Amino acid sequence: MDIHSINKQELTEIIEKNKLNPSEELLSAARSVRNKYYGNRIFVRGLIEFTNYCKNNCFYCGIRAGNKNARRYRLTEEEIMQCCDEGNRLGFNTFVLQGGEDGYFTDEKICGIVSRIKSKYPDCAVTLSIGEKTRESYKAYRDAGADRYLLRHETANNGHYKRLHPKEMLLENRKQCLYTLRELGFQVGAGFMVGSPYQTSEMLAEDLIFLRELQPHMVGIGPFIPHCDSIFADRQAGTLQLTLTMLALVRLTLPKTLLPSTTALGTIDPEGREKGFDAGANVVMPNLSPTSVRGDYALYNDKICTGDESAQCVKCLRGRIERAGYVMDMGRGDSLTI
Ligand code: SAM
Ligand code: FES
Repeated sequence: MDIHSINKQELTEIIEKNKLNPSEELLSAARSVRNKYYGNRIFVRGLIEFTNYCKNNCFYCGIRAGNKNARRYRLTEEEIMQCCDEGNRLGFNTFVLQGGEDGYFTDEKICGIVSRIKSKYPDCAVTLSIGEKTRESYKAYRDAGADRYLLRHETANNGHYKRLHPKEMLLENRKQCLYTLRELGFQVGAGFMVGSPYQTSEMLAEDLIFLRELQPHMVGIGPFIPHCDSIFADRQAGTLQLTLTMLALVRLTLPKTLLPSTTALGTIDPEGREKGFDAGANVVMPNLSPTSVRGDYALYNDKICTGDESAQCVKCLRGRIERAGYVMDMGRGDSLTI
């Protein structure tokens, strides 16, 4: 069966068949495709979570505006630069600036930070992940030198999107942002949570079909994990098995995409990230944020790696990657997707 042409019904059946126990046939097919294009290298990105202020109220998220228990922080431009300096010392060549939708960081501030990083480290790729903005804002970020943009679509099913977000947030707008970013020349990352409330296998099939249309350079998928102060506090987390199934299916659908094995996957299973590599993933994003704020970027409970210094995280990850039979690659790691 050719995954590039099969329909929603057939994809749903494959997901149903594998969701409790992904078959070795599926996982090894995903590994072969990953190896064919990227070999056994795992690319490493330095993640800087620079603000946990957010104007949105996504029902699943621990740092949504309505969570009055969240301890809020913003890194200063100097602190962000210090994270990059530390990343550079450790050998990183890509920095991912992620945060809530925080009005304090105007386009002018974001552009200033991006151009400062790019002029100090011209060979590094800068990725932004700061939510839905206007075309003008995205263009300004691109002109300032940003190379990549991560914006998970969260779910490609409109009814599902409405059950995960307040009514002012629209799937249509989120999808349009992704197409705009692509058109502006960003390397674009879409993605979704696995096992989010109300999600069905049919909806996951729709996610694959949307990704097939968008052809993103990167796809961020990880299990949904509840946060005690979110609307979905009492929901079940997504499972390891279903996440591995979806990683493998994304790899087969988009052979040349960059596919992170996420911190959320490492949170629900101590060997989750290694199992993600064995399902076709080829990126990890260790945290470069100062340890003093790490615990406050709490999208979900029990997040791993919140206490370790950046250098410690890199050492630990290198060991994990090598023990799993892969090679850590700290280069820019551009996507082969055009
Ligand atoms: N504000 C930016 C945005 O909207 O893209 C970036 C930050 S947002 C917190 C990054 C991603 O975290 C979201 O796209 C979502 O998929 C994920 N996330 C949020 N809450 C989560 C949860 N409870 N479990 C797992 N992932 C979660
Ligand atoms: Fe904005 Fe989660 S609600 S980052």
